[in-house]
Amino acid sequence: VAAADLGARLLAWYDRDRRDLPWRPRPGETPDPYAVWLSEIMLQQTTVAAVKPYYARFLARWPTVRALAAADDDAVMTEWAGLGYYARARNLLKCARVVAGEHGGRFSTTEEGLRALPGVGAYTAAAIAVICFGRRAVVVDGNVERVMARLFAVEEPMPGAKPSLRAYADSLTPSERCGDYAQAVMDLGATLCTPRSPACGLCPWRPDCRGLREGVAESLPRKVPK
Ligand code: ADE
Repeated sequence: VAAADLGARLLAWYDRDRRDLPWRPRPGETPDPYAVWLSEIMLQQTTVAAVKPYYARFLARWPTVRALAAADDDAVMTEWAGLGYYARARNLLKCARVVAGEHGGRFSTTEEGLRALPGVGAYTAAAIAVICFGRRAVVVDGNVERVMARLFAVEEPMPGAKPSLRAYADSLTPSERCGDYAQAVMDLGATLCTPRSPACGLCPWRPDCRGLREGVAESLPRKVPK
């Protein structure tokens, strides 16, 4: 099946069943790079459910990157308390100060420019570039790796399979609506193509899933046996 057809079916599913997340622009809205950046930093090692109240409090207290850049360090650390991985909070402030102080309060619109910011790694740079600026960036997290491993029945164990899973993710990424597409694959992994008991009956890619056809979907991606 052609990549374009898979992409179209995934987007149709997303349009119908997308999760309504506070940092996710509704159809027709323009994403705020500051808000998307804040959410992606918080989501790096933390679940959606845990992030939601922190995200709301941060945005209410510091509604712009300039406001955050001017914040008191201790106030930010206190507001972050409970989210864990405190290096993220320190980098958050550093990054806000670089963007406010050196870039006129505007986030770079390229993956490369975003990568240069404190605390922004490959995944986060790709996520911001594709969601906010419509750049055709390939966003690969654990959810996306699982979906690709199953769709293409990749039997090679992790982490060795990572490069080929990324290549598969790249091969499916469309150039139109790529921000929606990236978030749709994340949703697919988070809501249907779950680690245990995936809901294959509801999956828009069910007819194309080689892992399902071969009866191995739930066992993928494989891990190197300890
Ligand atoms: N996890 C990390 N980034 C996300 C996003 N943009 N949407 C849903 N889950 C995510």
